Amino acid sequence: MPNQSIAWLDELSTDLSKRSGSSAARPSMRNVANSVAFLSGGLPDPRELPRDTVVAATAGALELEGEWALQYGPSTGDPNLIAALLDKLARDQGIEAQPENILITAGASQAVGLAARLLIDPGDVVISEAPTWTGAVRRFAAHGAEVREVSVDHDGTNVDELEAVLADLAADGRRASMLYILPNFQNPMGVTTTAERRDRIVALAREHAVPIIEDDAYYDLRYDGPQAETLYTLADGESVIYMGTYSKNMAAGIRLGWAVADAETIARLTALKLEGGTSPFASQVAAEWTRNGTLQAHIELLRTHYRAKRDVMLAALDNAMPEGVRWTRPQGGFFIWVTMPDTVDVTELAGALAAQGVQISAGPGFYHSDSGHHEFRLSYSYPTDDEIINGIEMLGREISQRL
Ligand SMILES: Cc1ncc(COP(=O)(O)O)c(C=O)c1O
Repeated sequence: MPNQSIAWLDELSTDLSKRSGSSAARPSMRNVANSVAFLSGGLPDPRELPRDTVVAATAGALELEGEWALQYGPSTGDPNLIAALLDKLARDQGIEAQPENILITAGASQAVGLAARLLIDPGDVVISEAPTWTGAVRRFAAHGAEVREVSVDHDGTNVDELEAVLADLAADGRRASMLYILPNFQNPMGVTTTAERRDRIVALAREHAVPIIEDDAYYDLRYDGPQAETLYTLADGESVIYMGTYSKNMAAGIRLGWAVADAETIARLTALKLEGGTSPFASQVAAEWTRNGTLQAHIELLRTHYRAKRDVMLAALDNAMPEGVRWTRPQGGFFIWVTMPDTVDVTELAGALAAQGVQISAGPGFYHSDSGHHEFRLSYSYPTDDEIINGIEMLGREISQRL
């Protein structure tokens, strides 16, 4: 039972724990399968999870590595996975890195958490896009950060606002500890930051000597247009920690992600990661799956699959949304961001929909400030086409009734 008062815990818990609160065990993800339409979390499509090739890669890893696949591994991560990832990053992302530049983590979540541990003392300033990924919102708050928000529009991070925030801080003799940016198919808005804006972000970060945390969880899932250059390569790898994950392009259950940075930053992140090398066994499987070409083939399959689902949701929105409701048109990723007229309260709306088995993600959870009350995130990754169409029709009816 969370949020109970227990004397020794209340008296002895660290400030970090107190700010983090207590968190009930998450209900099994299987429960969401019972929804009429689960348009909420960023869960990969269960119909596209690569069961058969994972079985083959598991057998391959055990054959290749024998009992070493089941042994403790090096603290920065399994060398086979690091080698396979370095090839992938060079080929797809254009990131040329060495083994000492990479740390394998338990998902991108852990990479963001480690960056927060590395850089945020209570009261430090973090500059974050707003809205942004809920996990980062909670983590920065837990570390006691003073978060300065920079808005996001259809071209990505609002760089004029970013410049103003940095100038304000400089005028006060302060310097931000990090700039947290999601340049591709941003969670929750689905938008992508333009090349011109990426150049300015890198230039501004350099001018103000603020490190960039580049969270690129959806990089591989681009459905239209050419890939944009990463902030990491634009900055020649200087003062940028680049993060990615196997959650969206392979399987969220494998719980593997990574951070790429200069060797000293990686060494310090590794020292903060007390649990030792991230699952050597899962890493061996992912390494085999990556180096035998399955990852690349699977990314191609996912692009076609999710592109079609995005289009189903966009068409359903065109059909069902009343006048005055606006939404984004993502080039990739899992999410569409919807903005309603100010008269509709999203918390009440989301509650009414949930009672009918339709889940959406209400806006306020994506902000550090008290914002987002007329906005919400939709995800097309998990539901079937029929669930998307049905769910969006119900959503349209509920919004119309409130206008
Ligand atoms: C932007 C962003 N960063 C990080 C994560 C965490 O992903 P992982 O499953 O790799 O921990 C997510 C997951 O939804 C995300 O959307």
